[in-house]
Amino acid sequence: MYFGVDYYPEHWPEERWPIDAEMMKQANINIVRLAEFAWAKMEPEEGVYDFAWLDRAIEVLAGAGIKIVLGTPTATAPKWLMDKYPDMYPVDVYGLSKGFGTRRHYCVNHPVYRDYSKQIARVMAEHYRDHPHVVAWQIDNEFGGACYCQSDLHAFRIWLRKKYGTIDRLNAEWGTVFWSQTYRSWEEIILPVYSASDGFSQNGGASSLLSTPYNHNPGLLLDYQRFFSDATAEYQRLQIEEIRACSELPITHNLMGHFSELDYFDLGKDLDFVCWDNYPNTMWGKSSPASVSMAHDLMRGIKNQNFWMMEQQSGPCGWHSMGDTPEPGQIRLWTYQAIAHGAEGMVYFRWRACTVGIEQYWHGILDHDGIGRRRYREITAIGSEIAKLSPLYLHAKNDNAVALVKSYDNVWSHRAQPHNLKFSYDTLLKGYYTAVAGHHVGVDVTSAETDFSPYKLVLMPAFNLMTEVIAAKCEAYVASGGALLVTFRSGTRTWNNQMTTLTFPGLFRELAGVELEEFDSVNFGRTVGVNGSFGEGTASIWCDVLKSNGAETLAEYSSHYYNGTPAVTVNTYGKGRVYYVGCDLDADALARLAGIILEREGIAASLPKAYEGVEAIERIAEDGRAYLMLLNHNSEPVEVELNGVYTDALSGEAVEGELSLEPYAVHVLLNS
Ligand code: GLA
Repeated sequence: MYFGVDYYPEHWPEERWPIDAEMMKQANINIVRLAEFAWAKMEPEEGVYDFAWLDRAIEVLAGAGIKIVLGTPTATAPKWLMDKYPDMYPVDVYGLSKGFGTRRHYCVNHPVYRDYSKQIARVMAEHYRDHPHVVAWQIDNEFGGACYCQSDLHAFRIWLRKKYGTIDRLNAEWGTVFWSQTYRSWEEIILPVYSASDGFSQNGGASSLLSTPYNHNPGLLLDYQRFFSDATAEYQRLQIEEIRACSELPITHNLMGHFSELDYFDLGKDLDFVCWDNYPNTMWGKSSPASVSMAHDLMRGIKNQNFWMMEQQSGPCGWHSMGDTPEPGQIRLWTYQAIAHGAEGMVYFRWRACTVGIEQYWHGILDHDGIGRRRYREITAIGSEIAKLSPLYLHAKNDNAVALVKSYDNVWSHRAQPHNLKFSYDTLLKGYYTAVAGHHVGVDVTSAETDFSPYKLVLMPAFNLMTEVIAAKCEAYVASGGALLVTFRSGTRTWNNQMTTLTFPGLFRELAGVELEEFDSVNFGRTVGVNGSFGEGTASIWCDVLKSNGAETLAEYSSHYYNGTPAVTVNTYGKGRVYYVGCDLDADALARLAGIILEREGIAASLPKAYEGVEAIERIAEDGRAYLMLLNHNSEPVEVELNGVYTDALSGEAVEGELSLEPYAVHVLLNS
């Protein structure tokens, strides 16, 4: 298994390189990622290429037995290029151009930037074609969000023409009859920039005047987001084609977990493997263990295949200030958390904290003085463990019975019009993930296009935009015995973001065996009681007022004017069942509801009881050996009861009955 670091030899004197390489070797490091921001070093003047420094760095690393992932440097266009074409700078919704001085200062739709990007990718690929130590390529670095420049406008019109064919069709799909928005030609189409109805006073929930405006035609907003995502995938493809012309090596791009500005399912289609960057604790916040695990599961779901960590946090992190320093054992815990959910390459960010640039505080394994201390020793130990057990991890499978569907189209639709200011689609998905995973049941996070048939339970919370094709697929899955869970706001819109004229929950109505009489957006500190098979709970965002068309009631509302009416139902349809959850639920109640559903559906947990902050992930190695990874995210020890009889893969000891997990402990237990 590849185990390595992100390394920036260009930041350090050459005399240091052999010391770094030797220290890496001692730490069991066998791969580094290089060059993804070094355009100005590789092409200091237009058309003048210098790879000599990079060749020497690779040679030094190769001498220590270290392999290389090469990044194309297009996230950091050099100054000479930006000065030559200043209209390549990205533009925000207010028409402000974002200038030089950091990175990602370009637009993916700018034709000239596309040419320069292809050129540098091609020149690099030609230079390093057949290089014995280069093993993979990374395109650019962490593709980001939208731009509103003239290149986008031009490309957006072309994209729309391709999608709709005629302007009349576009007008019909967007419903431009509303407020005289009718477009007479493609040339009249706009980008969803700052509009007359935007601004602080009109933009509910806006915390500042410069918050992103969303007061636009919903069809326009959604299509713009789809367009920008497609354009980014196209930009990525252009570079991939250049590299492909010279090299058969696998190509990746480093994604950002829950980041949802781009459709990662689409972006992943052209990649040979997915990798991602995980920073659980930085100046910007701390992620819950479940949120990180869900991100890992989503990254695995992008291609339904294992992935790499291309940047895994290895020190205190931030730009202007820092998050917490990882405690002893935490880097190891995060490493195994990633592996448990499908990582089969582990690259830490970064080798050594930098003395210059905005990331001076973004610490890596070594501090600024280059001396290996506690974190270096921890990484070294992890490296030797992984080297020993890598056959268990490489090509291993997480064979889960539950799928959670994430739809980027739905992210974008909900974000523009969240129904209730407290509602977030991502938060709802995380809530369901946490509730199920908390019972020690594995979850695949996947797209609506995935094959549902291997699953016992498919969760589609707030699947708002809906199509006949998806409805038919759900119907077939349930009819043949699957269980489906849908919630409030499911099926309320068409795929192009119009409200459906079907009675809610629209295309889910037959399946769910319920229909909405009306609904209640819960505001101003009010909560609604819910009472049922899972005990008491509360809703504080949304309540559907339901009429059952044959569905069994699992819980009722216990307050407000719809007191006594169904809140949660289950309907038998063909050989399967459809759960309808008409309201949001507090985390506790949702966890209890998840427990009841898992039991009804006969989905077994990895541990006999639920332990807070403990993960128990079942996997199957390539050679068929089954094993359980136990992770204690708590800073206190936890006693857990085990289901079976195991052998600890690291110590070789037999384990059964009770096991005491030390703070941040990791156990890899082979099924006996
Ligand atoms: C991202 C980038 C890295 C680095 C880290 C820290 O993940 O890919 O280059 O900048 O953030 O900010």
